[in-house]
Amino acid sequence: MTRIEDEFSRFEHEGWERVANKYDSVWSSLTRQFIPYLIEQAQVSAGMSVLDVACGPGYVSGAVRKLGAIPFGIDFSEKMVAIANKMFPEIRFVQGDAQDLPCDEASFDRVLINFGLLHLSHPEQACAEASRVLKSGGKFGFTVWAPPPENPGTKIVNDAVEAHADLNVQLPEGPPHYLYDQKQECRTVLEQAGFNGSSMIYETRLVEWHLPTARYFFEAERDAGVRTAGLLARQSPERLSAICTAIEDGVRHLFAVMSADEIVERLSADPWSSWDILRVSRITPWTLRLGSLS
Ligand SMILES: C[S@@+](CC[C@H](N)C(=O)[O-])C[C@H]1O[C@@H](n2cnc3c(N)ncnc32)[C@H](O)[C@@H]1O
Repeated sequence: MTRIEDEFSRFEHEGWERVANKYDSVWSSLTRQFIPYLIEQAQVSAGMSVLDVACGPGYVSGAVRKLGAIPFGIDFSEKMVAIANKMFPEIRFVQGDAQDLPCDEASFDRVLINFGLLHLSHPEQACAEASRVLKSGGKFGFTVWAPPPENPGTKIVNDAVEAHADLNVQLPEGPPHYLYDQKQECRTVLEQAGFNGSSMIYETRLVEWHLPTARYFFEAERDAGVRTAGLLARQSPERLSAICTAIEDGVRHLFAVMSADEIVERLSADPWSSWDILRVSRITPWTLRLGSLS
């Protein structure tokens, strides 16, 4: 049974139970793209036991199983666990809290968390739990989002929220939206959790995300997100409409038909210049941050 002990965790839990059925179709096309990087950097190979924390629909587990590793998935949302069990019936998924793992010490070769840490009230506790359940020489890998301006996708939402949202609404306080966005901070947290900081790999990866319409991003945040959705749900109709328009405009102005390489080139040459836009399409740099224990 999952223990939900603080207000932020309760908020997150209710949110994930609410959007569990939408997460896969709305966000997985983005978040799944980081899984190959994650498992490559964590050096997952056949025969390894791999704990997939905050597993959602179970894609990390599915990917490591294809490599011949033995996955085990944990998520605090009952609905997510049911979805994962349905999608990957050959893999074991159970309900549990990333901050209080229902696992013995030194029982896994790898612990992986794809976009889970930033949903926790105490992410450093989840790092300590990862360290506890890893065998000696095991590795811990995780992804979090890169902050703006490194990350044009998040910049669009941030700018729209900062310009139009009422930020004084009641929302439970959570960790920073852009967790561990400084390398040294990340290293310190991992060292305090028991990892060898000098073995840390800290990388930023860019992927392309294809959006069907300019409004899709706003609708995804509003209808299939948790934290930003909570903020949006507390806005007046006028403010919500202004945020929607700003995100839509931001998408139109940024998501041109460009490859990830072109986007990187443009960003480094002239960040936030007005680009010629052909039609709504793709991109967004998102971040892969990795830590490991040796
Ligand atoms: C952004 S989704 C990522 C899902 C999956 N890892 C993926 O790559 O698609 C975040 C997941 O974290 C789970 N989660 C949030 N807080 C959690 C906690 N305290 N313990 C376990 N899972 C949690 C949510 O239920 C949700 O499935």
